[in-house]
Amino acid sequence: MNRFNYRGDELMCESVPLQSIAEAVDTPAYVYSCTGIRENYRRIDRALESYPHLICYALKANSNPEILRDLAALGSGADVVSGGELNLALAAGFPAKKIVYAGVGKTDAEIRLAIENNILALNVESTQELEVVAEIARKMGCTAPIALRINPDIDIEGHPYLTTGKSANKFGIEIQQAKACYQWAAKQSSLKIVGVHCHVGSMIRKSEPFSKSAETLVHFVADLKSMGIEMEHIDLGGGFGVDYQTVLADQGSPWMLEPEAVIKEVLPVIQATGCELLFEPGRSIVGPNGILLTRVLFAKETKGKRFVVVDAAMNDLIRPSLYGAHHEVVPVRRRAGEQQLVDVVGPICESGDFLAKDRNLIEPQRGDLLAVMTAGAYGYTLASNYNSRSRGVEVGVEGEGWRIIRARENWIQPSV
Ligand SMILES: Cc1ncc(COP(=O)(O)O)c(C=O)c1O
Repeated sequence: MNRFNYRGDELMCESVPLQSIAEAVDTPAYVYSCTGIRENYRRIDRALESYPHLICYALKANSNPEILRDLAALGSGADVVSGGELNLALAAGFPAKKIVYAGVGKTDAEIRLAIENNILALNVESTQELEVVAEIARKMGCTAPIALRINPDIDIEGHPYLTTGKSANKFGIEIQQAKACYQWAAKQSSLKIVGVHCHVGSMIRKSEPFSKSAETLVHFVADLKSMGIEMEHIDLGGGFGVDYQTVLADQGSPWMLEPEAVIKEVLPVIQATGCELLFEPGRSIVGPNGILLTRVLFAKETKGKRFVVVDAAMNDLIRPSLYGAHHEVVPVRRRAGEQQLVDVVGPICESGDFLAKDRNLIEPQRGDLLAVMTAGAYGYTLASNYNSRSRGVEVGVEGEGWRIIRARENWIQPSV
């Protein structure tokens, strides 16, 4: 669900006016609806309740420690892609036995960390990685729990950077090779086969890629079973798409793909195996529940073009520059006036530094506050210090209350 709406002309997060947050903590600021985040997790969980399952929240979407603690307390598992994320997940209270670890380039130290902590599964992405995991576990005198990430060559028909399940992508192992890998793994005393994994992309708009993945994995699991190799779980990854145009609570569902619809299709397919079902949603849980608050610094005009220069930039939210992604930009206080066609740009020295292009906004003036909507996923986690800019503050809202959940970075000082 979405917890941002206007009360009169005042944009609110739950029951808190965003203007008051900006006045208290300054801008740029990420503001999240903690209630909305929990609600979205629970909705996916409820849709799966009739069947043994585990939701492994994908930390890469938003790894704010307070948000992680909240999700861990609800019973969520975690999907991590680095030693850093693994440490964050453990510190936030996710039980190791609910953590899966994917990624095409795990270092030896990261593999050791995962084995030491006895996580649920290392999602292995190549033959060589499998051999290295077996060798490291053998030297440690341990057994490494593994699932292979299958690349099923399924097209999500989305942005090429968000497609991960085509054979041209670097991710996973193609199915024939995976079969041989499992046969090899079954003979290694330092490996324990626990499952099979696939994640075909992010911002998936239809249920088809999920049902195709489910069918592919179910056939594969049956094939392996006939060879005497048993699986405990099937992990279908994340990727539920959200609607970047539906940004206010009264506009309807911000989910482009309702998880219930996907689950209804895949459950009967998976059920036949008796395997536990895992999903790794990220964006759908946090995306619509976060915004980036920014203040207008200047309005300027060049020949035929109007710019609104704001204090947030591509270092705060890189999605528009990186993917040409669309984020709605709305005023924190609505007022009457004439609409102008503007580009909303940041202070960074790149023409690619923009948050929105060719938008109709009502005469944005110096000092006005704007909200860049649907910025809860892949916002702060992709933020950088480019141009030596400090990362902004993160605020969590709950009903009528709010608090800082990560402080603004200190102004970067030249070292002396
Ligand atoms: C392996 C894996 N799982 C889960 C996710 C989460 O995807 P999303 O945020 O679209 O749900 C990703 C993101 O790309 C991923 O790479």
